[in-house]
Amino acid sequence: MLGAILPGTQHLQNIHPLVVHFPLALLPGAALFYMLAWLAGRESLAWTALWFLVLGTASAAVAAGTGLHAREGVMVDPTVREQLLDPHKSWMLTTLGLSAALTVWALGGPPFPARGRSLFVLLLLVVLAVMAHGADYGGRLVYDYNAGGSACGQPIEFTR
Ligand code: HEM
Repeated sequence: MLGAILPGTQHLQNIHPLVVHFPLALLPGAALFYMLAWLAGRESLAWTALWFLVLGTASAAVAAGTGLHAREGVMVDPTVREQLLDPHKSWMLTTLGLSAALTVWALGGPPFPARGRSLFVLLLLVVLAVMAHGADYGGRLVYDYNAGGSACGQPIEFTR
């Protein structure tokens, strides 16, 4: 059914690559709108930021769930699993934990916690840095070692 609408999905070994781009886009959106709300002193922008944060965290949970499921079946060399897949998992679960904590904090004083605002924004930027670093491992899994793909023979031993 999905393959009829989106033929490219027939080549996917799992649905993780279909969902990862939601947190990758929504969490930076949350940081951007919180900073704009702070600078402009506009409450309406902070509500937009909160929606980005809630949706970003929810989609990060879906990405983490599909990633953990993909981990079981993805065919990669044990060296690649150790050097790239395991660090990817750790960084991304840290991303999810941090963004979930910030979401709980924001929902405790919506839309923008009145106390500790600078720490809140700083931690949002930390989430982005952690997520970008972790996603880099994910990209290397796919583009250097053909994880989840069928472009060439598997498994490829880790070299760099
Ligand atoms: C916030 C959560 C997560 C995000 C945003 C994320 C992001 C990514 C990205 C950007 C890629 C490269 C995809 C591509 O370029 O096509 C990737 C690949 C991958 N990730 Fe994650 N990831 C997350 C969590 C996890 C977790 C917890 C695991 C568990 C080990 C995992 C396992 C994988 C695997 C196996 C691949 C290789 C491609 C595949 O077979 O699906 N990911 N991820």
